[in-house]
Amino acid sequence: MIVAIYPGSFDPITFGHLDIIERGCKMFEQVIVAVLRNPNKIPLFTVEQRIEQIRYSTQHLSNVEIASFEGLTVNYARMRQAKVLLRGLRVLTDFEMELQMAHTNKSLMGEIETVFLATSNEYSFLSSSVVKEIAKFGGCVEHLVPKHVAVDIDRCYRKLS
Ligand code: PNS
Repeated sequence: MIVAIYPGSFDPITFGHLDIIERGCKMFEQVIVAVLRNPNKIPLFTVEQRIEQIRYSTQHLSNVEIASFEGLTVNYARMRQAKVLLRGLRVLTDFEMELQMAHTNKSLMGEIETVFLATSNEYSFLSSSVVKEIAKFGGCVEHLVPKHVAVDIDRCYRKLS
């Protein structure tokens, strides 16, 4: 059984992330979407809120698990006996960072393989940061994130303003 970990910030989950999760679920027996608890970043949503958003967005998938982790991704992969890290690639500029990350992870855990999926063309511009930027200035994000996430974002920015 091949277990893949899809690590990330997911602040918040977008249709781009969901596309990678859905396709990953067709390739691997189990996909663990792992939200990083990152003390160095001030997120829009707490880890618990993000987990809930991802859980709700992936209800239609039977082989997905949502979790959080701290520290090195490879340590979490080892603990979960996962041999694959799943990452999406949108544009060429992603590649440099992602390749460096894949090599770093490989240097720390020889048996880990990073599998890159090319993000579907329609989402190649999409990131959590883009979503937050649009929402901050009152723009509509309903075509970029699941409906319940758009509602959460709206509520969040209304509270902040
Ligand atoms: O969604 P993101 O922010 O692009 O995800 C980045 C993430 C969480 C995959 C990356 O920052 C990560 O793996 N962090 C954990 C620390 C780690 O393992 N570092 C070594 C690899 S560079």
